[in-house]
Amino acid sequence: MKKDFVAEIVCRDKIQITEENAELKIFARGSLSFLKEVEKLRKKLSDRDSAREYLKTLVNKDSNSLLLKELLQKYLGEWQPSYTEKELCHCRAVDTDLVIDSIYLGANDIEKIGKMCSAGTSCGTCQPDSLNLLQDFS
Ligand code: FES
Repeated sequence: MKKDFVAEIVCRDKIQITEENAELKIFARGSLSFLKEVEKLRKKLSDRDSAREYLKTLVNKDSNSLLLKELLQKYLGEWQPSYTEKELCHCRAVDTDLVIDSIYLGANDIEKIGKMCSAGTSCGTCQPDSLNLLQDFS
């Protein structure tokens, strides 16, 4: 059976693990610094145990490590962000993934999230959910 696991910053970096018959393939696109990190992962990743070990080495220092962390957690079945609905901000019709992308790209408070993707810039009801995601991903 074939399974795909994907982590992506929309229109920027993307990485996918495809698992089929116990064989892993990694596909990626993005910046040179991201692809260098993917190559390090490619050399170490052979199964779930190696994924678990590699995950322990990742520090939330930049978008590259956050994206790899998301991917490995999805691969291990450990991906549990605090907000999982597709759309987070209903006033501005902003998807949750876009809010997470904003955090990956450096938004570290509500105002910066609002500036980067417009989430939370109308009624403000969604701001606590954005704050929870900030705690998950920073
Ligand atoms: S739901 Fe996000 S600003 Fe209203």
